[in-house]
Amino acid sequence: MWLFTLVSAVLVATLASAESKSASIYIQPVVSGHNPPSLIAEVQYDTANLDITAPTAEVTSYEAPDLPDGASLVRIGIYDTAKSQWASSTSVASVDNFSKGYSPHFMVSVDGKGEAVLGASVRGVRIDAGQTRDFGPQALVLVSTQGKQPELNKPIVLSPEGKKVVVEEKSMLQKSGTPDSLRKLLC
Ligand SMILES: *[C@@H]1O[C@H](CO)[C@@H](O)[C@H](O)[C@H]1NC(C)=O
Repeated sequence: MWLFTLVSAVLVATLASAESKSASIYIQPVVSGHNPPSLIAEVQYDTANLDITAPTAEVTSYEAPDLPDGASLVRIGIYDTAKSQWASSTSVASVDNFSKGYSPHFMVSVDGKGEAVLGASVRGVRIDAGQTRDFGPQALVLVSTQGKQPELNKPIVLSPEGKKVVVEEKSMLQKSGTPDSLRKLLC
């Protein structure tokens, strides 16, 4: 009985590790000159438990970026070092996100199965004074439905009361108004 319990515990551990995926997030300063992207964080997540309400992602390693003087923006994404090209969509963030007193929070967008990383972004979250836990780098994995482009850093419009506002797309005509020349023709 004891042995059986041990064997099943080992089995469960093996299964769990098979579903665990790791995403390597790279950072590149947006400045002139040769600045190849460098590894900033490894994010581990569980493909069996991709639930947006229960983030299971964990930052397993983090290296504070060493950015050249004059860089004010950085690019973030998954980079293929062998091919020397970005392997996901990238996002741009201000270097201020890495300032002292801020904790980097990574967002990794994956496909429906959690197999491929579609994009990554970061934002600095201010560390509250007196905060004793959860002040280190954090990660959130967002599942995209297959075939869709990731919607990272999509602006959210808030009403003065702080409620989310849905912005309706205006038609081309509404946006530009009717040009004078066309109005003359119509009259
Ligand atoms: C992080 O970067 C974004 C994009 O540039 C910027 O809008 C935001 O203010 C930055 N946040 C902080 C805390 O610097």
